[in-house]
Amino acid sequence: MRSVPPVSDELSLRLWPDNWLGPMQLDDEWEQSGPRAIDLGCGKGRFLLAHAAHNPDMRLLGIERKLRRVRKIDRKAVRAGLSNIRLLRLEATYVMRYLIPDAWIDICYVYFPDPWPKDKHVDNRILSPGFLDILERTLSPQGVVHFATDHEPYFEQVCEFLSADPRWVATEPYVLQEDEVSDFELIHRDHKPIHRLSFQRKS
Ligand SMILES: C[S@@+](CC[C@H](N)C(=O)[O-])C[C@H]1O[C@@H](n2cnc3c(N)ncnc32)[C@H](O)[C@@H]1O
Repeated sequence: MRSVPPVSDELSLRLWPDNWLGPMQLDDEWEQSGPRAIDLGCGKGRFLLAHAAHNPDMRLLGIERKLRRVRKIDRKAVRAGLSNIRLLRLEATYVMRYLIPDAWIDICYVYFPDPWPKDKHVDNRILSPGFLDILERTLSPQGVVHFATDHEPYFEQVCEFLSADPRWVATEPYVLQEDEVSDFELIHRDHKPIHRLSFQRKS
């Protein structure tokens, strides 16, 4: 796996897997040996960048499909010397299904995933009963998922399918420091309730 783009000499924290079809050798990518976390749909990266700065031992992988957003986070992370961040510009479900090794993730942040509000698009939501199977494979034995959304129907749907699945137990939400509040939450928190749910694999 290369950490630099193939046509540039600029320092970059983006990952370019050699093999796009099977699990990546992610542990070779970091000097750190601390907890391994994923930010699914990291957006403009406010949370990812601040969380990495507060937790220098943590290994953080940001996944985002919008190229411009990934490039901006990359530049900011390099400038800030945040060597514990890596970035993948890819579709998150694909990454989780095919590229993340078994039991690799200690913490998975899913902050304000696209809610797909129309009934006919609900199946596009990233958190779904099927996604719980992917999480079961990719989370470490005590792995935790932190989910936040401003979209109440999405929140209720997740609560419903989680309570019907005996593999998971609710746990304490992560309490954000002010500079970790994500770009999306920062814009919406004053005029919409924010719903949070954290869950953990049952040991
Ligand atoms: C509403 S924004 C929230 C961003 C960030 N988590 C925050 O709280 O500010 C959702 C982000 O997820 C990205 N995204 C949505 N679906 C995705 C997918 N399937 N794979 C990768 N990124 C995705 C979008 O491009 C967008 O940047």
